[in-house]
Amino acid sequence: MKTFPFIYNEPKEFLKFLQPKDWANFFLGEINPRFSVTAIKAKVVAVKEETADTKTIVLKPNWLWKGFQSGQHVPVTVEIAGRRITRFYSLSSHPSDSNLQITVKRQKGGLVSNFINQNIKKGDILELGEASGDFVFSKEIPKQLLFLAGGSGITPIHSLLKDLEKSNYTGKVTLLYFVRSYEDIILKSSLEKIKSNVKWLNIVYVFSDVPKEGYESGFLTKEILEKYNPDLKSTSVYVCGPSPMQTKALSLLEGVKVKSELFLLPSQNVSNVKKEGTVDVFLTLSHKTIQVKGEKSLLEELEEQGIYPQSGCRMGICHTCVCKKQTGSVTDLSNGEVSELGEENIQICVTRAESSLELEL
Ligand code: FES
Repeated sequence: MKTFPFIYNEPKEFLKFLQPKDWANFFLGEINPRFSVTAIKAKVVAVKEETADTKTIVLKPNWLWKGFQSGQHVPVTVEIAGRRITRFYSLSSHPSDSNLQITVKRQKGGLVSNFINQNIKKGDILELGEASGDFVFSKEIPKQLLFLAGGSGITPIHSLLKDLEKSNYTGKVTLLYFVRSYEDIILKSSLEKIKSNVKWLNIVYVFSDVPKEGYESGFLTKEILEKYNPDLKSTSVYVCGPSPMQTKALSLLEGVKVKSELFLLPSQNVSNVKKEGTVDVFLTLSHKTIQVKGEKSLLEELEEQGIYPQSGCRMGICHTCVCKKQTGSVTDLSNGEVSELGEENIQICVTRAESSLELEL
């Protein structure tokens, strides 16, 4: 009589073939799509419109969620046209809230931010990763704080403000929030609610595009910093916003304690380059050669040609996209440095091709 070969000869192989966790996930998913033994899945319990281009997604995660600290971000994976795509979003809620929330502003050409704003509805399931990031308070919270927020950079700052509110903070806080217009203020009602509950908070909205009577207008300048924070040397500053605002803030705040969180895609962080011709990129694992212009990040140029390497934050934070460059030279988009020609690991979301390359992809 014939025996079942896997069970009899190779029990380990048989178990591998069975993939017990996959089966468990399958059956649990049938009971409730949020259930899983391996993945942090979260049900969308509400979608709130913040502005014309920004929504807050309220999420109830499953038992694998380990919590977060105010100011941290979380990887969110969605499936778009059969492809799983991950992006990082700051949590705008407080760790003690019964549900999590992310607040997502549509980015021009942003695949996931547009998908979330257009398609995500109550009852949907999103997959999350673990929270991370060091845009958080140290153990001892400073007595004098200045938050500089630009656009959707308000999201982690909103969570930090809620943290101060819940910890009965007694210091002094100024929030300078730069947005295009009054209508673009994100999380406005919640910010105003925090302000009305505490004595220590001053919120100053600054409109860059559409001035409004009774409000500040323009961009970040030394004058506005000093107007609202005459004592900058003894203030701890938290900056979160687009790269030009961050660069400006760092140059104006020399000698001041600053913690910053970048909030833009890398291609928007560097000056645009126009290049003549293309260079070859040989992908050594898939034995493919493609031509790229070296005008954008390698990740973007690969994706434009239908090649989708693993990626997460797309801004040089999470290291999901790291791959080995075997030969060739790249530019680091975060600082403009051009690499040597030899072998090294690179983050393809924040590097662009300078010469022909061989990548272990
Ligand atoms: S995708 Fe996160 S570092 Fe590149």
